Amino acid sequence: MKEIHGGLERAVGKWDELGWPRPEIVVVSGSGLAVDLGTAKHRLPLSEWLPFDVHEVSGHPHETELLLPRPERPVLYQKGRLHSYQGYNAHQTVFAIRLGALLGARVLVMTNAAGGLHPDQNPGDLVLIRDHLNLILLNPLRGELPREWGPRFPDLSRAYDPELRSLARSIGEQQGIDLAEGVYAAVPGPSYETPAEVRMLRTLGADLVGMSTVLEVIAAKQMGMRCLCLSLVTNLGSGVVDEPMDHEDVLKMSRASAGKIERLLTALLADDGLL
Ligand code: HPA
Repeated sequence: MKEIHGGLERAVGKWDELGWPRPEIVVVSGSGLAVDLGTAKHRLPLSEWLPFDVHEVSGHPHETELLLPRPERPVLYQKGRLHSYQGYNAHQTVFAIRLGALLGARVLVMTNAAGGLHPDQNPGDLVLIRDHLNLILLNPLRGELPREWGPRFPDLSRAYDPELRSLARSIGEQQGIDLAEGVYAAVPGPSYETPAEVRMLRTLGADLVGMSTVLEVIAAKQMGMRCLCLSLVTNLGSGVVDEPMDHEDVLKMSRASAGKIERLLTALLADDGLL
């Protein structure tokens, strides 16, 4: 915890030293979804901020960009996230979120790749996360955290901000993009689920399964941020269709849907209703 706390203080100091405007919004992109959200005003490898080593996974670049979708609206864009299955602990996984929150950001927008748990879903569908099941069973709020980060027992009853979801849906409508809503089950990974696990997740009330996002949302909510998370259904879950899972297919579907996500997020970041 000391390493993380000190690292965050140094990263905040470095941000200011570089003269980057402090962000209002944090964006984190998921597997193969590091889309282009406009010309970066500044850019640095993520490793420049972190007090620990980053390891790359194929298809997951790690860069921090400072975007200005509107002159008065700086955005910290974390291209490529850290996952607990890579061996990062919960505090390491949420480092960029806490950095954004400490710099004053009030909104967190994230994308991820997910498996659909219902036969009526299709690869390429975009789904707004309405709620989650944290089956990763880690929590970034464990341990002694600085009091100023927020409450010990934060409320998660509106973890996925209803107003932001409604804003995203209306932007989607304008662009002819249909946005469903669903419950995201986060599992530890990195192996994909068995068909029995997929049936279990459906029974538990999940609509999507993935290996990320929930730890970041928990950390963001503690620090008072509003969250909007968008899942791309890259595949149907194991056993929903009778096909083996392949990470390459996940990346391929992510690339194929990048344009749609890029348009939606670009409009969202510039929208009056976001802040
Ligand atoms: N399971 C878990 N994580 C995923 C999947 C999946 O089917 N697809 C993309 N990320």
